[in-house]
Amino acid sequence: MSVGAPKIPVVVAEVVELNPLIKRFRFVRTDGKPMPTFSGGAHIVVEMDDNGTRRMNPYSLMSDPTDTSGFEISVRRDDAGRGGSLYMHNHVRPGMAMQVSHPVNLFGLDLRAKKHLLIAGGIGITPFIAQMTQLEHLGHRFELHYSVRSPELGAYADDLKSRYGDRVHIYYDNQKHMIPLAELLEGQPLGTHLYVCGPKGMIAWVLGSAEAAGWHPSTLHSEEFLAPPVGHAFEVELAASRKTITVGPAQSLLEAMEAAGVDAPYLCRGGACGQCETDVHRCDGSIEHNDHWLTPEQKASNTKIMPCVSRFHGATLVIDR
Ligand code: FES
Repeated sequence: MSVGAPKIPVVVAEVVELNPLIKRFRFVRTDGKPMPTFSGGAHIVVEMDDNGTRRMNPYSLMSDPTDTSGFEISVRRDDAGRGGSLYMHNHVRPGMAMQVSHPVNLFGLDLRAKKHLLIAGGIGITPFIAQMTQLEHLGHRFELHYSVRSPELGAYADDLKSRYGDRVHIYYDNQKHMIPLAELLEGQPLGTHLYVCGPKGMIAWVLGSAEAAGWHPSTLHSEEFLAPPVGHAFEVELAASRKTITVGPAQSLLEAMEAAGVDAPYLCRGGACGQCETDVHRCDGSIEHNDHWLTPEQKASNTKIMPCVSRFHGATLVIDR
């Protein structure tokens, strides 16, 4: 995918405020065609014109993967972020025309699994909602363990409990409930796959515990998109395009290239998929590697950069784009 890839023209059909932090958005097509079907765990990139700044944020699809009448996402407001979630919360209204990408799945279910053990934290619940619908359609075995701050912020907890009964377990932080991870990891039938989506610390805890308990890496699946961080403005020379661009404090290098008309590849826009990996020709300074794609050796050598999340400090950065 790149900024020049075909987009889906949509109108916002519904905005639902679930709690003070989370809103759900439904998009339907404006060109009369059916929405593409997708597989649980897929995301779309939503384009926004935020006061002249084009933002393209990835959000997990949570609607029924077989429903071609529309796409649904949920957005958690991030008051300290660069503005994408605030734009969605403060400016996006029913009836508004927007563009979204075709779905991409970087967090798909492994349907060879005998059972699917799903572990969610906070807004990390959204890909699992589509995955559970898919698993239910297919008649596959699963259970969900969903940790949230409080009942007030537990978007979808009651709904999931009533749809899936005792296959759904909810844990409220403010009531000191803890996911009994060690017990869960021990008590699974052979052939179970584990999926985790949520805050960074939770993903590290779940994957680290599973590995320590002897789970094979091929049975472990996680998704964490990093938000591009804000920072100081910096200049970058694009060798192939023969352009020098300035990356603004609240802009990513990828967004700055796109704003300059340079069609750069991406999938996740969050430092996870590797699609935007770019060779560095010259680096007089230091790259702030914010991705979790490059190896520690690649990061230390400053020969590669992931423009969706990484930044630069110093005199000269020349990249192969
Ligand atoms: S677009 Fe996925 S790592 Fe940059």
